[in-house]
Amino acid sequence: MMAILIAGIVMLVGVIAIFLITGWLISGAKPVESAESVTARLYKVRGRYFLLLMAVLVIMLSVTLSNLPYRSQVAVEPEYIVPVSGRIWYWEIGPIQDRDGNPLQAGSGPMVLPLGKPLEFQVTAEDVNHGFGVYDEAGQLIVQTQAMPGYVNKLVHTFTEPGEYHVLCMEYCGIAHHSMVTTITVE
Ligand code: CUA
Repeated sequence: MMAILIAGIVMLVGVIAIFLITGWLISGAKPVESAESVTARLYKVRGRYFLLLMAVLVIMLSVTLSNLPYRSQVAVEPEYIVPVSGRIWYWEIGPIQDRDGNPLQAGSGPMVLPLGKPLEFQVTAEDVNHGFGVYDEAGQLIVQTQAMPGYVNKLVHTFTEPGEYHVLCMEYCGIAHHSMVTTITVE
């Protein structure tokens, strides 16, 4: 939501800037002017405009770059490993393990994940590409990554709210794609 808002504001500012610059160029134009002087003046404006754009770019990057998810993925050491495998058309999740590979949960009961612990989902697929998306009770997407055959995508996440979370497939994978849903409990 925030990203869309920022993108909208940036676009609006950009459009207004284009209008202002165009207006300024038009208002400053003299009726008779040689091609050389016009060229020279425009080149000067272009140089300034370029510097302005670079300044805007640097400011925007420095403000927003830290919000990219990549940093949070390397900054946190996961405490538990959660294997995830997508198949047509269901999810296989678990067994959850500690970092030495010891299973935390015996048997194949309902998936329960610990609250407040950094978890590393190791996401893959057995057959075709799937999309691993975790949604909270309100239907808000919390984390997601692709589930691809032959690859293990690592996704680190710490649940901060207990409750029921829904895992949905986020990539069309065939006739029963919509039923590729499961629930995990966080407590
Ligand atoms: Cu699996 Cu869509």
